[in-house]
Amino acid sequence: MKKTAKSAQPISDRFFSRGREFLGCQYPILCGAMTWVSDPKLVAAVCNAGGFGCLAGGNTPVEILEKQIAETRKLTDKPFAVNLITIAPAYKAHMEMIQRVKLPYIIFAGSFPKEKEIIAAKATGAKVMCFASTLSIAERMHRYGADAIILEGSEAGGHIGHVSLVVLLQEVLFRYSDIPIFVAGGIATGRMAAHMLLMGASGVQLGTRFAVATESCAHAKFKDFFLRAEARDAVSTPQFDSRLPVVAVRALRNKGHDDFRKLQLDLVQQLDRGEIHREFAQMEVEKFWMGALRKAVIDGDIDRGSLMAGQSVGLVSKIQPVAEIIQELNAEVEQELRTVKQNLA
Ligand SMILES: Cc1cc2nc3c(=O)[nH]c(=O)nc-3n(C[C@H](O)[C@H](O)[C@H](O)COP(=O)(O)O)c2cc1C
Repeated sequence: MKKTAKSAQPISDRFFSRGREFLGCQYPILCGAMTWVSDPKLVAAVCNAGGFGCLAGGNTPVEILEKQIAETRKLTDKPFAVNLITIAPAYKAHMEMIQRVKLPYIIFAGSFPKEKEIIAAKATGAKVMCFASTLSIAERMHRYGADAIILEGSEAGGHIGHVSLVVLLQEVLFRYSDIPIFVAGGIATGRMAAHMLLMGASGVQLGTRFAVATESCAHAKFKDFFLRAEARDAVSTPQFDSRLPVVAVRALRNKGHDDFRKLQLDLVQQLDRGEIHREFAQMEVEKFWMGALRKAVIDGDIDRGSLMAGQSVGLVSKIQPVAEIIQELNAEVEQELRTVKQNLA
């Protein structure tokens, strides 16, 4: 009798326990914050399904973000995080807000936060998670006192670093065991999530797969484009000249992407001929994608909008309710752990 009870216990319990405890949710499966996509409805759906949702702060005006936090709280009684982008113009106001609106979890993204900002966020009572896309950023965030790291490889959608998750796992995950590390970038299946857990991750973060969930507010054309895309269609924005630095973003190749390449090449030629100043050229580069994610996600402009997506888009083939995605991921994790156990027996 005792034996049966023991074998019925999911193997994943052991591997989920640290992430589960840290996040206060059933499955340490995070739906990463996605600007324009991660609204209260999606975040609450993830939390109510046992995962962990992250509300996107993006550059949302602070009054609206406060309303979104309140709305999310109405839709779920589970904990969720708010994602703050350190390079967003609204960031200062967001940092002031966290003093008024107590949040259980704050995720710093964009560039990396200053030590005093991590200290200030922790002083509000929040658990602080920080993105790391290189070993040196991870080291710094660890030193600054982050409670957990989200280790994101360059396969991911949105703003990215330049190092793949496979290398980051060896550089960072294998090195640190004193704080939870959640891994992101290129993960779309529970089978892969199981191996991340076996390697020591406390949980996984997915974005691309959730962007096409039933509850995602993204335009039908945006979702349809994702379903038809292959892994190789999710490309990082190129930079052609060090005089014109470009923040790398992984998105699906479209007309806007091709126009951006052309714009950069034109500007470089004009710079070489001394026809324009570097500041002007840089402004043109920065202007190009302004508002482009909203155009794609909300307006469904798949030609000129920014279709931020990770390479995992190649593994996404249907629109599913969030609860189904999470249940499927969980079942696959369990199945894979059982297979590994059998293989080792
Ligand atoms: C459309 C889109 C928008 C994103 N916006 C943000 C954001 O505002 N803040 C953030 O920290 N990460 C953002 N990300 C990254 C995700 O939170 C997540 O880490 C990433 O998608 C995981 O990799 P995957 O795309 O392979 O699933 C975005 C990703 C996508 C696809």
